[in-house]
Amino acid sequence: MTPQPPPPSRQAPGQPSAAAALPTTPASLLPLVLAAMAHTPDARLRQLMASLTTHLHRFVLDNAVTEAEFERAVQFLIGLGQNTGEHKNEVILAADLLGVSTLVALMNNPAGGPGAADAASHAALLGPFWRRDAPVCARGESIARGDTPGTPLQVSGTVHGSDGAPLAGATVDVWQASPVGLYENQDPTQPDMNLRGRFLTDAQGRYELRTVLPAGYPVPTDGPCGELLQAQRRHPFRPAHLHFMVSHPAHKVLVTQVFADDAQTLASDPVFGVTAPLVGRFERFEQDGQPHARLSHDLHLSAGACVFPHPPIP
Ligand code: BEZ
Ligand code: FE
Repeated sequence: MTPQPPPPSRQAPGQPSAAAALPTTPASLLPLVLAAMAHTPDARLRQLMASLTTHLHRFVLDNAVTEAEFERAVQFLIGLGQNTGEHKNEVILAADLLGVSTLVALMNNPAGGPGAADAASHAALLGPFWRRDAPVCARGESIARGDTPGTPLQVSGTVHGSDGAPLAGATVDVWQASPVGLYENQDPTQPDMNLRGRFLTDAQGRYELRTVLPAGYPVPTDGPCGELLQAQRRHPFRPAHLHFMVSHPAHKVLVTQVFADDAQTLASDPVFGVTAPLVGRFERFEQDGQPHARLSHDLHLSAGACVFPHPPIP
């Protein structure tokens, strides 16, 4: 429907003049903007936009934002859009680097949340690289496709439901960067869907997979977020980790990560994803004179609707 302008307002006798509804000073603008939004029928949208607008106006006023700074901020936002597409998602990256993705994950997934007989696993940010429809794999299958080099790693554990009991038929979706620190869709030398796979838990709630030890890697720095990191003298290196998304029709989808206990930047993850329970217990050992590793990691779901996030990339 084409939007129509409202009828011209007529000044009733004894009513304030139309000029009263015009801004006179910087601070007089906010009430007018809030009044213009006040009839939003969706109550939650009305509340969120009023709060966001109030914070934005206060931010501009408190910091005496200049025209040049405003223009720079607009350029930054345009850059986020221009650097978001099939292969990367700079919008999500910006939310990650500001700590907002981790804040939303922690706030909405309290460990041991309501109704949990056992402590629910800590959630962690999704990041920009999850892909829907990773290959479905048999128990124990390797997600290292082609000839991905690296130290062989065996990962296993049990998925528990909200009542604390082992959960059969849960899907454990795993993805990770290669030992050179790139996800398959960032690296044309890797096979499609390399280091991605979905595993179904057995009757005892167990899953098991084989892969290679992940490496730490820099978040993408070739867009506006990289410029921001540099301006803030922050390093871009995430500690080595595996991503997990665990789902079951009767539970809330758990998005989480497990970090290597010997990773160098555990205490300075640029996206603030590390919490103590997410540091995995990786056991290193030798087999036939070659280094190997093993990770045992249980996952605990909480009650809720099984709703998947939108994939940040196709
Ligand atoms: C990741 O772990 O895949 C990731 C998270 C945030 C920013 C970049 C990458
Ligand atoms: Fe990652």
